[in-house]
Amino acid sequence: MKKIMPIYGTRPEAIKVAPIVKALQADERFDCVVAVTGQHREMLDQVNQLFGIEPDHDLDIIQPRQTLNSIFAKILDGMDRILSEEKPDAVVVQGDTTTSTAGAIAAFNLQIPVVHAEAGLRSFDIMSPFPEEANRKITSQIAALHLAPTRVSKANLLREAVVESDVYVTGNTVIDALLEVVDKKIPFTDPQLAEVAATVEDGTKVVLVTTHRRENQGEAMRGVGRALARLATGNEDVLFVLPAHKNPVVREAVLPYLEGLQNVVVTEPLAYGEFTHMLSLANVVLTDSGGVQEEAPGLGKPVLVMRENTERPEAVEAGTVRLIGTAEDVVVEQVQTLLHDEAAYTAMANAVNPYGDGKAAERTVSGIAQLLGVGERMPAFDDGLGRD
Ligand code: UD1
Ligand code: UDP
Repeated sequence: MKKIMPIYGTRPEAIKVAPIVKALQADERFDCVVAVTGQHREMLDQVNQLFGIEPDHDLDIIQPRQTLNSIFAKILDGMDRILSEEKPDAVVVQGDTTTSTAGAIAAFNLQIPVVHAEAGLRSFDIMSPFPEEANRKITSQIAALHLAPTRVSKANLLREAVVESDVYVTGNTVIDALLEVVDKKIPFTDPQLAEVAATVEDGTKVVLVTTHRRENQGEAMRGVGRALARLATGNEDVLFVLPAHKNPVVREAVLPYLEGLQNVVVTEPLAYGEFTHMLSLANVVLTDSGGVQEEAPGLGKPVLVMRENTERPEAVEAGTVRLIGTAEDVVVEQVQTLLHDEAAYTAMANAVNPYGDGKAAERTVSGIAQLLGVGERMPAFDDGLGRD
C-alpha cells in the first residue's frame, strides 16, 4: 500500500481536498493519512465535519490576526516532524494558500513527491491575489505531478516549461464537492436564513455577498461596505445576505456600514452545504472568492467579482462571471443593473461548467497511482471550451 498524505488548512482547501480524501480512502492501493495545519479553525472544522473526515494530525497553528511569515514558519517546523515520522510516499497540496506552499516545501525538503491539486492558475500579477499568485508559482517549481483543472491552467504550466507528461487535466474537485451537497438543500441553522429562504419562495430577490481577499482589506473593503449599504437602502425589497468571514480585519471594514439595515442579513460563515443551498437561491453573487467563482457558474448564477484580475478566466469568457473591481460606484452600478435590467441579467445567467464534471477526485487518484507506479491515468477532463 502507498501512503498518501493530504495536507490542508483553510476552508477552501478542505472543501476541495475532501473528495480526494474520500476517493483515496475507498481505494485499497492507498493508505490516506490526513494532516491539517489549522491555519483556519472553525471554518476548517465545519468542512471536515460535513464530509466526516477526522484528521490524523493537526498542527493547530491559528492565531488571531496571524501573519504570513508566522503561518509559514510554524508549518515548516510542524510538518517537518509529521512527515519525518509518517514518511508518506507522496503528499497532496491544494491551490495557493500559505498552508499549501509551506506544506509543499516541507515535503520537498524531505524528498517526498508533491502532488499539486489545482495547479497552473495564473493572474499574471504577482501582487494580486496576494500572496496566492506567488504561492502557486512556487509550488509549481517543486511539484512532481501538476493537476491542472482546465486546459487554460495546463497551458500556463507549459509556458513555464513544466514537463508536459507531469501535467494532468483533471477538472476541479470543487465541482465534485458541490455536486455532492447542492441537491440536498441542507436546511439553514440560522433562523434569519430560514426566513430568507421562505421569502425567496414568494419571489424576493437575494444578493449573496462574500469578501475576504488580503489585497482588498482596508479602504477597498470599506468601499464594498458602503456600496452594500447604498444598495440595501435603494432596494428595500431585495435581501442582501453576507456570511461574514471570521477574519476580524474583514468584519471591522465592512460590518459597521451595515448596522440597522433591515434587508441585510449578516451571518457567521455557513457550513458548506448551507452555503451552496443559499447559492442556489441567490439571484446575484457578489464576491472576491476563488471557489465561489467556480461554483456559481455551474448553478447559472451571475457572478460579479470584486477584483481587478482573475486566474479563473474560463467563466469570464463564458459570460457568467464579470470582473468589476472594488470601486464603490461601480459595485453599486453593476449590482443595480443585474437587479433591474432583465436583458442584462439573462445574458449572464447561463449554467456553464468549465471547471469540472464531478470526476476530478477520481482522476486525481488515478494520477497519483500512475506517479507511484500502481495504476494508469484516466482520460483527461474536457472543459468543453474547444481550446487546445
Ligand atoms: C486564507 C488564505 C486565502 C484563502 C482564504 C480562504 C493565505 C495567505 N490566505 O486567507 O488564500 O482564500 O484563507 O478563506 O493562505 N480566522 C478565524 N477562524 C477561522 C479562520 C480565520 O478566527 O476559522 C481569523 C483569524 O483571526 C486569522 C484570520 O482570520 O488570523 C485570517 O486568516 P488567514 O488564514 O491568515 O487568512 P484568510 O484571509 O482567511
Ligand atoms: N463557503 C462556505 N461558507 C461560507 C462562504 C463560502 O462554505 O459562508 C465556501 C464556498 O462555497 C467555496 C469556499 O467556501 O467553496 C470559498 O472559500 P473562500 O471564499 O473563503 O476562499 P477562496 O476560494 O477565495 O480561496
